[in-house]
Amino acid sequence: QPQPKTVQELAAIGGKEVPERYIRKADNSGDGALDVCFPVLDVPIIDLQLLASSSSNSGEELDKLRSALSSCGCIQAVNHGIPGEFLVTLQELARQFFALPSEEKKKYSREIGGIEGYGNDMILSENQILDWTDRLYLILSPEQKRTLKFWPENPESFREILHEYSMKLQVILEVLLKAMARSLNLEENQFLQQYGDQATMQTRFNFYPICPRPDLALGVKPHADGSAITMLLQDKEVEGLQVLKDDQWFNVPIVPQALLINVGDQIEIMTNGIFKSPVHRVVTNSERERTTLAVFCIPHPDQEIQPVEDLINETNPRLYKRVKDYVSLYFQYYQQGRRPIEAALI
Ligand code: SIN
Ligand code: FE2
Repeated sequence: QPQPKTVQELAAIGGKEVPERYIRKADNSGDGALDVCFPVLDVPIIDLQLLASSSSNSGEELDKLRSALSSCGCIQAVNHGIPGEFLVTLQELARQFFALPSEEKKKYSREIGGIEGYGNDMILSENQILDWTDRLYLILSPEQKRTLKFWPENPESFREILHEYSMKLQVILEVLLKAMARSLNLEENQFLQQYGDQATMQTRFNFYPICPRPDLALGVKPHADGSAITMLLQDKEVEGLQVLKDDQWFNVPIVPQALLINVGDQIEIMTNGIFKSPVHRVVTNSERERTTLAVFCIPHPDQEIQPVEDLINETNPRLYKRVKDYVSLYFQYYQQGRRPIEAALI
């Protein structure tokens, strides 16, 4: 059985059209034309060092965090402790990997039925419209869950740098989960506890080749993340991410050296809907390719999650039930074309 072409291989052919399977049905999603100008989303810039400190300014930063996560569901995190040069190195490694010849990348190809490895959009249903993107999907933690055969050895420092990045993100994750709780006047371990020690981090390197028809194909279809939190290292120069807010699509700007952090469905559940897991998508570009790196922070599948008791009262009745292995529920609903978080509604 011949392997389907990756999007990068399709793009390299250089045709003026995209294959039928990549053409989005605008009438289904009802979200309008793509070849228009979109407004820029004002994503609050949050200083993580300030969030973690007990200085008098941290209260203001916590207020900013709460208001950002309750409205657009995302922040640009700065002062996160990861040196700018390190992020540049990582972006460079990601670009270098996708620039390798096809045969070299295919050493790391996803296997049938698996999610880890290199490949294009995973086909979950027969009439699915495909995303104009290729990916490298890897489990980062816990470390014993890594499948090293999918971890590129070329470029040479890839494994080492990715490992280091995952260590740095663990620290940031803890700072964030604690600050989120404090911003809601909760004891700081409320979310961390539900998250558990055996939590997983998974990463997806996203490569968006040049697309001849940005008016017809999307890089990633509209979705909200099934994670607790997602941390995205954007391309240094090329935009593409959009967030839906008040029924309108907005471009997410690039802030140099910032990590774009968004709430996933599992934090929306734990906060009883106070923090919003934003619907987002990626548009394509006919001039420049784009490379990003997303890390999904996900509670262990055996870990039960539910809204924090202290956030439920007469004016804010409980919205979500207790769920286990939300990611599996997420994919069941997603495949059926339903909004996954509805699986957790009471
Ligand atoms: C995603 O949300 O699935 C990808 C985000 C991006 O590449 O900008
Ligand atoms: Fe996403």
